[in-house]
Amino acid sequence: MKKPMIAAMPADMDAAHRLAAETGYPLSEITIHAFPDGESLVRAGRAADVVIIYCTLDHPNAKLIELGLAASAYRDLRARRLVLVAPYLCYMRQDKAFHEGEAVAQRFIGGLLAQWFDRVITVEPHLHRIKSLDEVMPGIETDALSSAGVLAQMIVADQDADEAVLVGPDAESRAWTEAVANETGSSFIVLEKTRHSDRKVELSMPQDANIAGKRVCLVDDVVSTGETLAAAARLLKSKGAGPVQAVVTHALFSCEDEKNMKQAGIEHVRSTDCVAHATNAAHIAPLLAAALRKEASL
Ligand code: R5P
Repeated sequence: MKKPMIAAMPADMDAAHRLAAETGYPLSEITIHAFPDGESLVRAGRAADVVIIYCTLDHPNAKLIELGLAASAYRDLRARRLVLVAPYLCYMRQDKAFHEGEAVAQRFIGGLLAQWFDRVITVEPHLHRIKSLDEVMPGIETDALSSAGVLAQMIVADQDADEAVLVGPDAESRAWTEAVANETGSSFIVLEKTRHSDRKVELSMPQDANIAGKRVCLVDDVVSTGETLAAAARLLKSKGAGPVQAVVTHALFSCEDEKNMKQAGIEHVRSTDCVAHATNAAHIAPLLAAALRKEASL
């Protein structure tokens, strides 16, 4: 039986090499030529019966078009089964119209991917008001992998986890903070967040929480501007916290944002390589490879 083929977008080749090494599946690169007018010429690599496209979806507006073109090229090459590996899945936070007239981006993007792929694999897709990714992408196979084990490894590699208090910065982070705390054996608390704008958030701490003098590790799924973690660090420091660190699954922030987080009192931020970033400290290839194992027999 022929092995599935991994086909990666140019920007994802490093991560895709790690996945190819874990799975033993061959890897080829999808090539992209940028025309002067801004359009893209997308060319599929080698054809195969089962093709796994690796494309993480940070900076999604440009990437989505190229991903759709790549999927269409592989269908033209007679791929029977197309699997998307998008360790970071974009547009999942806009899961309802918060104000009249807003597009429900989660449903729209999920619908598009469901048209292009037979299976979508991602990591911590920020499902908040809905229970499963199947609701976002009806009719196809979906896998929302947990990064709790990978985040826990980063924490225990660096500190005595049972002495650290893990902190989720908002109600939405409770699920993953608890999952990580279960892995590390740490205690955890969850803060309350009110968002006023893209860069203005206000946080408060539960009355009974005591973090004075304790080592603290913030845990979040997506860090975009870093304002949530910066505000959390300022609050924790004002309550007498000891050293503050952070582990995150999807690092989308800039160098300036990182400086801001450090000024707020975070010693260092470490991230998984779901999105390639200077703060990457852990690989998710083993997690993805385990999810992909069944592709060899389909
Ligand atoms: C919120 O719902 C997420 O879990 C993150 O806390 C949020 O996306 C972080 O955004 P920012 O880094 O821009 O504060």
